[in-house]
Amino acid sequence: MDTVVSGIRSTGNLHLGNYFGALRNFTRMQHENRCFFFIADYHSLTTHPTPSNLHANVRQVLSEYLACGIDPEVATIYLQSDVPEVTELYLLLNMIAYKGELERTTTFKEKVRNQPDNVNAGLLTYPVLMAADIIIHKAHRVPVGKDQEPHLEITRKFARRFNTMYNTGTFPEPEAYNFGEKLVKIPGLDGSGKMGKSEGNGIYLSDDEKAIRRKVMRAVTDSGPDQPNQKMAEPIRNLFTIMQFVSEPDVIRHFKKQYADCTIRYGDLKKQLADDLSAFVAPIRERITEISANSEYLRKVVNTGRDKARESASKTVREVREVIGFRPF
Ligand code: TYM
Repeated sequence: MDTVVSGIRSTGNLHLGNYFGALRNFTRMQHENRCFFFIADYHSLTTHPTPSNLHANVRQVLSEYLACGIDPEVATIYLQSDVPEVTELYLLLNMIAYKGELERTTTFKEKVRNQPDNVNAGLLTYPVLMAADIIIHKAHRVPVGKDQEPHLEITRKFARRFNTMYNTGTFPEPEAYNFGEKLVKIPGLDGSGKMGKSEGNGIYLSDDEKAIRRKVMRAVTDSGPDQPNQKMAEPIRNLFTIMQFVSEPDVIRHFKKQYADCTIRYGDLKKQLADDLSAFVAPIRERITEISANSEYLRKVVNTGRDKARESASKTVREVREVIGFRPF
């Protein structure tokens, strides 16, 4: 049985990018694998060092995670900050991670551009903590979106390096995974780039129908095709990409044909997309509301998850200490 680890930062509500990039199919996955799903609350401090309400953010993401179909009786769901073994492994991995390779990580370079006034060491070593998250359970597969590919590559590198340096077979080399399909990038509604928490261009799992309609109707488009079979500009392609995840194939074919013969009206396309998104999000939103109101349940989930995660993590850390050479007197 494979071990699967997946994480999500607690920096804002979950959006469709998170859902289709990582959370989709958890319901099925958890029965076929040994699954660990966690909330990366330490990671959130690399970009939000003084969140106004860290606890509320974590609670919201936890409720949303569960609403996507995780069964805490089957999978292990926990908070990163509840498992101190992760930070111990992070420290040990930092000794075999080099400044140059961390500085070259694309995600680090991006963050340096985005937050030049807060280039902290946590940001530089973000991939080391992420590697610790993953290999602490000896994961084989990591469900993630396309944006996390560089992090998985560096995780494999650290696992390999540890095994070589200490002449051991402690860690498998984990693969980025999207349920047998290619890794995905869900675009935003603002014409370019990916849907993201910080980009403000997302449809959230907690959005109601009105909010979804407003956002979709405002999505960036162009002036429309003026010759048959014209190549689609990025904003239009993006709308079709989102459609692929929530609309029926017939509906997509219909609008693609209209685009090809220049009869398309973007207003109709958006109306359809808003309907399909609303229908998709509604049941998840209802579950979020239900779960987030149940403090007793959330407390139980977190406590059980912490114990199960620590059991697995402490086993690995014990082995790692032994391999490196820390021994009891
Ligand atoms: P985060 O919190 O940014 O996103 C969580 C998951 O959602 C995916 N995702 C997307 N997928 C497709 N299209 C998008 N527009 C999109 N936006 C987000 C991400 O790829 C991710 O899978 N570094 C991680 C958190 C993390 C982690 C880990 C993940 C920490 N430790 C260990 C896996 C394993 C992150 O920032 O994800």
